[in-house]
Amino acid sequence: MTLLKMTGVKRHYETPAGVVRALDGVSFEISEGERVILLGPSGSGKTTLLNCLSALDSPTDGSYNFKDGEVPRNHSEKMTSFRRENIGYVFQFFNLLQDLTVLENILLIQEIAGNKDQERALELLKLVGLEAEVNRFPGEISGGQQQRVAIARSIAKKPNLLLGDELTGNLDTETSQKVMTALVRACQEENITSVFVTHDEGLIQYATRVIRIDSGKIISDTVLDSTSEE
Ligand SMILES: Nc1ncnc2c1ncn2[C@@H]1O[C@H](COP(=O)(O)OP(=O)(O)OP(=O)(O)O)[C@@H](O)[C@H]1O
Ligand SMILES: [Mg+2]
Repeated sequence: MTLLKMTGVKRHYETPAGVVRALDGVSFEISEGERVILLGPSGSGKTTLLNCLSALDSPTDGSYNFKDGEVPRNHSEKMTSFRRENIGYVFQFFNLLQDLTVLENILLIQEIAGNKDQERALELLKLVGLEAEVNRFPGEISGGQQQRVAIARSIAKKPNLLLGDELTGNLDTETSQKVMTALVRACQEENITSVFVTHDEGLIQYATRVIRIDSGKIISDTVLDSTSEE
């Protein structure tokens, strides 16, 4: 089943120095259950694409459909409710609420999504190896641990689409592998579709599809079968 479809999506910025074509005519479809890795050099448009996919930002041209509806744009309330209903997002610079504990950060997102479940919240924190830190505040744990809280939080609400921007960027290789394995399992169990931006080609092993982007355009799109590396 198709989850989403972008056709000819552009995101241009008018700047004093001229037009910046952050996305310049992007078209693709993603089916339910796919795990997509998005690769591309710095400045190629990866974060811009995630922001358009999540309706944090509005394309300046093209169409974007999610499930059977058009995704709202240029209307912050409708965009916010689209995100609440459908999207989990681990940002490039993760943003935990500093005056809530690790556990409370997870419970809050579940509450907003209307499915508060403390047992599951604790289970997810265990999944990312943070069972000992649940009652600490973000300021009292390391950057990599905060990143893992952000990852647990992003799946806690069971989003239809999970987006991650350099989500293992702050983790050492071993932790990164553990977290990715846990994430893949959680996504399979909950039927969560994912798109992860990374510079780390090592993450390709966890994906079912690799999309490469450069200068705001898709330059390759490869579906992987389970036996090949790419
Ligand atoms: N608000 C803005 N105004 C003007 N140009 C912008 C704006 N935001 C992003 N850009 C430009 O759009 C292009 C794509 O930016 P984007 O953040 O999507 O890149 P990226 O692929 O995520 O890079 P990185 O790997 O460094 O995070 C860049 O050239 C960037 O300078
Ligand atoms: Mg980026």
